[in-house]
Amino acid sequence: MAITGPCVYAGGMTANVTADTAAPLVRMRGVQKHFGDFQALKDIDLDVHRGEVVVVIGPSGSGKSTLCRTINRLETIGEGSITVDGRDLPEEGTALARLRSDVGMVFQAFNLFAHLTILDNVTLGPIRVRGMKKGEAEKLALSLLDRVGVAHQAGKYPAQLSGGQQQRVAIARSLAMKPKIMLFDEPTSALDPEMINEVLDTMVELAEEGMTMVVVTHEMGFARKAAHRVVFMADGEIVEVAGPEEFFTNPQSDRARDFLSKILTQ
Ligand SMILES: Nc1ncnc2c1ncn2[C@@H]1O[C@H](COP(=O)(O)OP(=O)(O)O)[C@@H](O)[C@H]1O
Ligand SMILES: [Mg+2]
Repeated sequence: MAITGPCVYAGGMTANVTADTAAPLVRMRGVQKHFGDFQALKDIDLDVHRGEVVVVIGPSGSGKSTLCRTINRLETIGEGSITVDGRDLPEEGTALARLRSDVGMVFQAFNLFAHLTILDNVTLGPIRVRGMKKGEAEKLALSLLDRVGVAHQAGKYPAQLSGGQQQRVAIARSLAMKPKIMLFDEPTSALDPEMINEVLDTMVELAEEGMTMVVVTHEMGFARKAAHRVVFMADGEIVEVAGPEEFFTNPQSDRARDFLSKILTQ
């Protein structure tokens, strides 16, 4: 099954749209992933277009995290192909480091360096990987921390911030690498309820600014507000792809209906 979707471009892209930029930013074809005898991804075909927000939902163990992790090569794949910006994923070395900075990832756990200040957490990548000067990296970091609403916390350490604030720092840290795409794997599921919205609001803003995003989440409000397409996975397969309203109000497959009835009555 080939999945194509709306081609929504990031703001500011006007002239000189070449054939290259019209191609999907991420293209997955026939992707298979095994862990030993267990098949975690079964024949995944998925395109993510520039500026598109794809929300991935599905039961626990359906392969959502594995799918995300293959896109920045935190997991290798068995068969099939994945390209990012028209290029096959590099296997190692500086090309792999570049891929990891082009493909930002925010996980459920905040993964900030506990011994570094908030500011240093955000400047580390630009200085080490992008070769940016310290002053320039700090200017960039402060503007990103301001954008996610935590600039006043720049001198503190992660443990001094709330979970919601730490997760917004993690988003700023990824953005500092100027990624082409951001992957979010259940970014709010470790947060106390009152902090969920502050993180989702940051993500909605990012989506509105035209960032290409793949977001694993069960937050229906976010999906309704920001998703261009919802991808429903079960047992390592993509079972259904639809616009958010269509998917939530009129799911086509039994598995999607069953899943939605469980999460919507929680
Ligand atoms: N490193 C691993 N080794 C063995 N099995 C794994 C590994 N990572 C994930 N799996 C298995 O692959 C399946 C899909 O996992 P995952 O992608 O984490 O699902 P989801 O994110 O949808 O909950 C699960 O059955 C999980 O146990
Ligand atoms: Mg997961």
